[in-house]
Amino acid sequence: TGKFTFDPGFTSTASCESKITYIDGEEGTLLYRGYPIDELAENSDFIETAYLLLHGDLPSGEQLDVFRGNITYHTMVHEHFKNFLNGFRRDAHPMAVMCGAVGALSAFYHDSTDIHNPEHRIISTHRMIAKMPTIAAMAYKYIMGQPFIHPRNDLHYTENFLRMCFAVPAEEYEINKVAASALDKIFILHMDHEQNASTSTVRLAGSSGANPFACIAAGIACLWGPAHGGANEAALRMLMEIGTVDKIPEYIRRAKDKDDPFRLMGFGHRVYKNFDPRAKVMKKATHEVLEALDIKDPMFAVAKELERIALEDEYFVEKKLYPNIDFYSGITLRALGFPTDMFTALFALARTVGWIAQWQEMLEDPNQKIGRPRQIYTGADRRDYVPINAR
Ligand code: CMC
Repeated sequence: TGKFTFDPGFTSTASCESKITYIDGEEGTLLYRGYPIDELAENSDFIETAYLLLHGDLPSGEQLDVFRGNITYHTMVHEHFKNFLNGFRRDAHPMAVMCGAVGALSAFYHDSTDIHNPEHRIISTHRMIAKMPTIAAMAYKYIMGQPFIHPRNDLHYTENFLRMCFAVPAEEYEINKVAASALDKIFILHMDHEQNASTSTVRLAGSSGANPFACIAAGIACLWGPAHGGANEAALRMLMEIGTVDKIPEYIRRAKDKDDPFRLMGFGHRVYKNFDPRAKVMKKATHEVLEALDIKDPMFAVAKELERIALEDEYFVEKKLYPNIDFYSGITLRALGFPTDMFTALFALARTVGWIAQWQEMLEDPNQKIGRPRQIYTGADRRDYVPINAR
């Protein structure tokens, strides 16, 4: 391969040093700043875990209050932003809206886009985390044809988000604590995952000195793909297509057929060759949410049976394909009232914390330089230009 190491898909290339997230794929371990993911999902909430990822340690009570205040201070979006959103087609996919709307934040908030100014970096970080729920809820309201609901800063982060999505002006909206705390858990599970495709995209975009809003928009675009964040939407669609337990063997057969492009969505992972620890927490959370909200979703039974059959199948065992985070998340999000189209937007909302933490870490790294991979050229040798009438 000549002068360069050839590593398609970066299966053996470390692109950076990082202190944020640790994964042991063989063991099925995931730590944020040293803390196991299941302990954080069980005990922490969105704001506290966001602080942890950004600052490196769990906050004191006072630090947490200040951080919460900084985030809630920025939850509103500029009034003209609504005009921007109104330009989208009514049936726009929320991820299409998110890509455009988040990129457009750099036009609305260019007073914090000097990446060499630490103050600007912090304000942009707070703005990003604060405005993502507002924008995601606006994308949802837009496709629903309902009026936007302004953020309420006296509410907890996930309570406020649920209210912005599901409240309507003429009616009282009662916060469902079970739903809000389930959403905290789901968001924590999605917050960071070291150098996955979208995070690497954010770092690569940021390495050129691009502003943080543009970098996060690039991350959102990458996350949308069905091999990455789009898998949560695809997994639920697949379960609905399977429909009943008796159809499972047919889909298992298709997933194993090399001539069929179909894959079991929500299965397999580049790094985990064991249970995805997030999937374990998610499966338990799905069970708890369905029970607490008294919802009987036949898709949960289909998912559990599909998991059982796949885990006993030689193909999946040999290739070490286990359920990943996206396998059960869709059933939980559906139980909370979100349509399938919104699933990846919720993933983006949560992953924004990881993206922006990684972006900050990269800019503070003294070894930081523009990301610029090389290639193995396999094209034509040098040749002379041929005029069109001689071709
Ligand atoms: N169903 C059936 N076969 C599979 C699956 C699957 N879901 N995943 C991998 N394989 C097979 C694949 O065909 C290949 O077989 P062979 O070696 O015979 O060619 C082998 O397993 C290795 O797969 P790969 O595509 O080379 O592995 P990768 O590390 O490049 O891809 C993946 C990882 C997640 C893209 C892949 O497992 C996949 O497409 N899964 C379904 C989509 C999905 O659930 N994505 C969410 C990932 S977790 C959330 C996130 O962080 O984004």
